[in-house]
Amino acid sequence: MKLLDIFMSLKSDMRYIEDELDKSIRSDHALLNKTSLHLLKAGGKRIRPVFVLLAGQFGHYSLERLKSVAVSLELIHMASLVHDDVIDDAETRRGQLTVKSKWDNRIAMYTGDYIFAKALFVLSELSDPHIHRILSKAMVQMTIGEMEQIRYFFRYEQSVREYLLRIRRKTALLFAVSCQLGAIAVGTHPTHSRALYDFGYNVGMAFQIGDDILDICGTEKQIGKPPGSDIRQGNITLPLILALQDDPHREMMIAHIDAVRESDGQADTSDLLQMIRESNGLKRAEQLSELYIAKAIEAVHLLPEQSAKRSLIDIAHFVGKRTY
Ligand code: IPE
Ligand code: IPE
Ligand code: MG
Ligand code: MG
Repeated sequence: MKLLDIFMSLKSDMRYIEDELDKSIRSDHALLNKTSLHLLKAGGKRIRPVFVLLAGQFGHYSLERLKSVAVSLELIHMASLVHDDVIDDAETRRGQLTVKSKWDNRIAMYTGDYIFAKALFVLSELSDPHIHRILSKAMVQMTIGEMEQIRYFFRYEQSVREYLLRIRRKTALLFAVSCQLGAIAVGTHPTHSRALYDFGYNVGMAFQIGDDILDICGTEKQIGKPPGSDIRQGNITLPLILALQDDPHREMMIAHIDAVRESDGQADTSDLLQMIRESNGLKRAEQLSELYIAKAIEAVHLLPEQSAKRSLIDIAHFVGKRTY
């Protein structure tokens, strides 16, 4: 099931957001136009804008105000991906060449900066300083999360807690804030914007755990890039952290991780991936993701009766089971 099929009701508003996204990054600089449109046109799930619009249904829904938040959040997400692909040395994203591989690293860094700047510009349509503070803080946390990820590369002795703190920062907070800002922008009652924040946070945690599972279990066609990218880069994610706790192949897994590090990511990872796929660690990671989905749904129950509640629950289930 395609994500947007779940939300027929959002279709026309999402089309408007899509047009505004396109407009927001156009400028008279030919190369910046090309590089930023390249990623925009490659598609993507647009899940953060969808959250903004759904959260906005618990207040005085105004597409014009929600647009500023939705476009800005998708741009921040996109900019972070352009930079992330430089750090990860990733060739493909969304099934297309990354900006860094189609052009080069320098162009990708400036493209990311450019898209970040455009995000700030769009958000300036809203004058509430509270909104700007919340978003700035989330961006700082995201950066810390990405820095921490580098610091933890190849550390196979790391704890689940350290992993969870990292994904909270790099992914979940932006989901939380998508819901929270959608709510605040249209004057939603604080109790409800808090519940929406909790919903977004928990879905975001499950989303990143799912992303990390897909990197181990997905196919290139599903995830738009070769599987095993995380481990080649040194990023030890939840299924592996859990497998290393008690798997009978623990020592072999460690030897594989060392081989990947010593070969600068060139060593073959297929045996390691296979061991993780067959491990209990993978099952436990899936269970933890389900736990976050359950918590997200609990938060939805605190919201007033509204058709958007059903959509939030559907989206939570989609994230729990996503295959792309
Ligand atoms: C990718 O996010 C980065 C993560 C936080 C895992 P998405 O999976 O939302 O990327 P697109 O926008 O659909 O390409
Ligand atoms: C998400 O992490 C990146 C950001 C939050 C910027 P990943 O590194 O797992 O994202 P993918 O797998 O490259 O899409
Ligand atoms: Mg990455
Ligand atoms: Mg990933």
